[in-house]
Amino acid sequence: MKIESSIAPVTGADRGRGPAYAKALPAAGANKLYAASRGPAKVTTPGVRQEPAAVGWTAPDGCAVTIRPIRPTDLDLEEAFVNSLSATTGYQRLMSSRKPSLEELRQFTRIDPQRELALIALTTVQGSERQIGVARFVLDSQTGDAEFAMVLRDDWQGRGLGAKLLGSLLAAARDFGVGRLSGVTFSTNAGMIALGRKLGFSIAADPRDATVTNMTLGVQA
Ligand SMILES: CC(C)(COP(=O)(O)OP(=O)(O)OC[C@H]1O[C@@H](n2cnc3c(N)ncnc32)[C@H](O)[C@@H]1OP(=O)(O)O)[C@@H](O)C(=O)NCCC(=O)NCCS
Repeated sequence: MKIESSIAPVTGADRGRGPAYAKALPAAGANKLYAASRGPAKVTTPGVRQEPAAVGWTAPDGCAVTIRPIRPTDLDLEEAFVNSLSATTGYQRLMSSRKPSLEELRQFTRIDPQRELALIALTTVQGSERQIGVARFVLDSQTGDAEFAMVLRDDWQGRGLGAKLLGSLLAAARDFGVGRLSGVTFSTNAGMIALGRKLGFSIAADPRDATVTNMTLGVQA
């Protein structure tokens, strides 16, 4: 499955990196960690997926955060978010130094609800809503597995938001019926690897390219 179209769009220069572009996994501990806020399964009608409800979260420093599914009307928020990212953070997310085009940002906000989910994290800064993170997965409808990717604003990294957001994505993936969730990150990305490990993902260097690390978790277990 190619996740690039929805998770990490690829240009000609980027093609051929293979799994370095997107894979991720779930975590065993995540089930317990986030069960309380997850509630009952949301998929009520075969073939029709009901999106997860918005949830609130208070950061350790007291900042109020809302996590909810992305909407097509979030394009301006998403564009401002992507433009706010440092070069390093953008590189860690896309595994490329290029910036997504406006059309790609539209794709990020206009997801296919049958096979994709994107959760965004929002907070309020001086009266204005600001996007501070996003985590998404794309389902391979043939295998029932999905690949994920995520990124936070630089000033929100290392504050627990990644654990909360990925936990929310895992809960949603379980409701979605995803089998295994997987992801790929640079082997030097200590933050993503620590987060994946914390949430129970299996972590292993890619046998074809040790510069990238694969993360995998059985979501339904
Ligand atoms: C990777 C990323 C999502 C992690 O989210 P985060 O909010 O920074 O992580 P958290 O604060 O929730 O930390 C989760 C755990 O990882 C640990 N951790 C976080 N950053 C770390 C780092 N740089 N080195 C080692 N451990 C780290 C934390 O200590 C925490 O473990 P603990 O609870 O046992 O202390 C975030 O840093 C990010 O967006 N980075 C840039 C984009 C990126 O790398 N995306 C991944 C590609 S899919």
